[in-house]
Amino acid sequence: MRKIEFLDTTLRDGEQTPGVNFSIKEKVAIAKQLEKWGISAIEAGFPAASPDSFEAVKQIANTLTQTAVTGLARAVKSDIDTAYEALKDAKYPQVHVFIATSPVHMQYKLKKTPEQVIASITEHVSYAKSLFEVVEFSPEDATRTDKDFLLKAVQTAVDAGATYINIPDTVGFTTPSEYYHTFKFLIDEVKSDREIIFSPHCHDDLGMATANTLAAIKGGANRVEGTINGIGERAGNVALEEVAVALEIRKDYYQVSSDIVLNETFTTSELISRFSGIPIPKNKAVIGGNAFAHESGIHQDGVLKNPETYEIITPELVGVKKNSLPLGKLSGRHAFVEKVYELGFDDVTADELQVLFAKFKTLADKKHEITDTDIRALVAGTTVENPEGFQFDHLSIASNEDGTQTVTISMRNEGDEVLTTIAHGSGSVEAAFNAIDKFFNQTVKLSSYNIMAVTEGIDAQAEVHVTVENIDTGTIFNASGLDFDVLRASAIAYSNANTLVQRENAGIITKKISEKANPEG
Ligand code: KIV
Ligand code: ZN
Repeated sequence: MRKIEFLDTTLRDGEQTPGVNFSIKEKVAIAKQLEKWGISAIEAGFPAASPDSFEAVKQIANTLTQTAVTGLARAVKSDIDTAYEALKDAKYPQVHVFIATSPVHMQYKLKKTPEQVIASITEHVSYAKSLFEVVEFSPEDATRTDKDFLLKAVQTAVDAGATYINIPDTVGFTTPSEYYHTFKFLIDEVKSDREIIFSPHCHDDLGMATANTLAAIKGGANRVEGTINGIGERAGNVALEEVAVALEIRKDYYQVSSDIVLNETFTTSELISRFSGIPIPKNKAVIGGNAFAHESGIHQDGVLKNPETYEIITPELVGVKKNSLPLGKLSGRHAFVEKVYELGFDDVTADELQVLFAKFKTLADKKHEITDTDIRALVAGTTVENPEGFQFDHLSIASNEDGTQTVTISMRNEGDEVLTTIAHGSGSVEAAFNAIDKFFNQTVKLSSYNIMAVTEGIDAQAEVHVTVENIDTGTIFNASGLDFDVLRASAIAYSNANTLVQRENAGIITKKISEKANPEG
């Protein structure tokens, strides 16, 4: 059986999702979980995009021991040099060089002739090859590129030393059969005395990303690129968990294998959901909350008689465990620590465990049964890097006779100084957000607000997700807050979002690639 390699680009293409800004600590935690999930390579970022991006790629390069780490670079020498600086200490470094090849991109974006693009491929892929043993090349917008020109671009990159050829469906334009033929054509026609590995890179604009990726595998691709939960620009990238599970369930048809550890899928997906602030839709293929729910009488009857009647994926396959042993008020430190490790958080530090256990005890006072999901939420919310600067401390609320609410918010800075603001609103959340606005005094627009219960039952913890826009720059930020109380969770989420905006205004967080000046232009 052919083995399919998985390259995950959640931290690069996935982070281009509006509102998603992973902190460096979150990125390293995601990279470690992806390594556990069994990917062969991670695109850790675009090092030349910002100092933050550079640092994240460097830290991931220095952390992973089994997975190749790659960074994106335009066909620009300084991008490749920066990628080299970030990646040089990785155990298995790679670089990913791209340039657009479709007529519309060459003419309007790059303002280059096809001949200039070919010359740039030769120059920059061979330059990358002088620094990196493994070079990947992408002809951006490949699926809207003239086929003969695409072949010429790919052959040029191979001749210049590329080992991996990625064929991006940049705007989610292609169809399964068209993409299948593109791969067959390129694999048949490209000449090399080295082994060249081709990969699909699909966006989901027309809802065909998974089908297209699988068609490319049928057409001979031996590596796939995508993101967890399908996050990414516009409609997102292909969801790698869907590809991995499809290859397993239909191995009779695809006749390929992979190193993906399928029962780490749910943990991986949940981690990305939490850190990206993008909830997993209930009806999402493979890992959605309803994927294993059987509503209609006929289905329930069938599943009870034999699960295979309606269940092609078992919860166990993707690591959805029945709550093994819920903890409660009487559970001690030992049981708690065991549970944290059992859930896969093996690298929480002793200090973090201390804080976590205290939080667990507070939660156990309020909630009868602490489930695995509660613990996962607790750990993820505690060990990730909360934005630096002011942190929400506490609030108090008073209801006024006219039905309005007054909220007092206290924020604490790193030096433990507590500052308080007070504001009114027609509802409690509005009043709390008004008080936080007064505190930060910056122009921010709330564009979405969602509450999710972490578990079932009236004593569930609340997870609030907010999306805000920094009016001055147009940048969107997602942030979340977790608390037993909905209003506190809302205040935490909104103050975290404001802290991100404050950090952008202070120049600590920089904008993303698409907004950066293009040195090619
Ligand atoms: O979608 C795309 O074209 C990309 C390239 C940079 C590979 O993400
Ligand atoms: Zn992409």
